[in-house]
Amino acid sequence: MTPDDDVRRSQAWFGAAGRSGMIYRSWMRNQGFGPDAFDGRPVIGIASTWSELAPCNAHLNRVAESVKRGVWQTGGFPLEFPVMATGETLMRPTAMFYRNLLAMQAEELIRANPLDGVVLLSGCDKTTPGLLMGAASVDLPAIMVTGGPMLNGKFRGQDVGSGTHVWKFEEDLKAGRMTQDEVFEAEGCMARSNGHCMTMGTASTMACVAEALGMQLPGSATWPAVDMRRFEVAQEAGRRIVGMVEEDLRPSAVMTRAAFGNSIRANAAIGGSTNAIIHLMAIAGRLGVELSLDDFDELARQVSTVVDLMPSGRFLMEDFCYAGGGCRSCCATWPTPVCSTATR
Ligand code: FES
Repeated sequence: MTPDDDVRRSQAWFGAAGRSGMIYRSWMRNQGFGPDAFDGRPVIGIASTWSELAPCNAHLNRVAESVKRGVWQTGGFPLEFPVMATGETLMRPTAMFYRNLLAMQAEELIRANPLDGVVLLSGCDKTTPGLLMGAASVDLPAIMVTGGPMLNGKFRGQDVGSGTHVWKFEEDLKAGRMTQDEVFEAEGCMARSNGHCMTMGTASTMACVAEALGMQLPGSATWPAVDMRRFEVAQEAGRRIVGMVEEDLRPSAVMTRAAFGNSIRANAAIGGSTNAIIHLMAIAGRLGVELSLDDFDELARQVSTVVDLMPSGRFLMEDFCYAGGGCRSCCATWPTPVCSTATR
């Protein structure tokens, strides 16, 4: 609902009289939804960048099921829909060419359909900023769930970082320190679960930045993609978005200039990717929030880097998670944590 309108946006479709309303409801009922789905309850879109061509996002269909459970639990009506998935590893010439197209697609799909709020499912690098940009432009209540990092790679007793060790293995092959067969074996040990890169690359960075911006629930960014707590936070996001619709809590009220400042500081603390600068500037631009390179310079200088992750450091996202990245017990802003770590 908007402050000056007590009728939900979705009711312009599902509450319509006559032939139009019949068409809107009738075709949706071919999926088995009963008439109570159209009784004025919040309709929640789940914008999923699931794709087998974007391997970092290939499990998002399962994350979506957890989101739906949370939406149903709180009286909402969840509807999942696909948004273009930009995978870093396969797309040519570069996924960055398509980030804005993803943002435009998300924006138009959210705007064109009978949605009152939206849950954004992302993972690989450009999918997180692209979805945030699209949702920012529409400015309907929105919350993000990133898909989580892969488990730490393991090869011959050592942690192996996706991306980082591609370079090392290639050098080792060229130098004769590894055979081609050993490299084949190592590549299977590097990406050993669903999820995005488990180094502090752009995907992990933007997941943490989305959390610092207030667009993802506290403690969400670091749970591995295959950890059941990833699915707990997804369910909780489904519950929260229904409340956000009731509160009319929109991205423009969440992603304020102060929130961008917070995310810049967080990025400095985690040693995040410099790509965050490009993406944060684009998201801020969608909201009309003033943000300059000087802001990054000034705010980041005040913060010490406290996270020691590859590619510049030693550890990986699983380590960051267990060291406190996934803990929600310190978050005073989250009144009803359901995650089992809340008492940790
Ligand atoms: Fe998708 Fe690295 S390739 S996050």
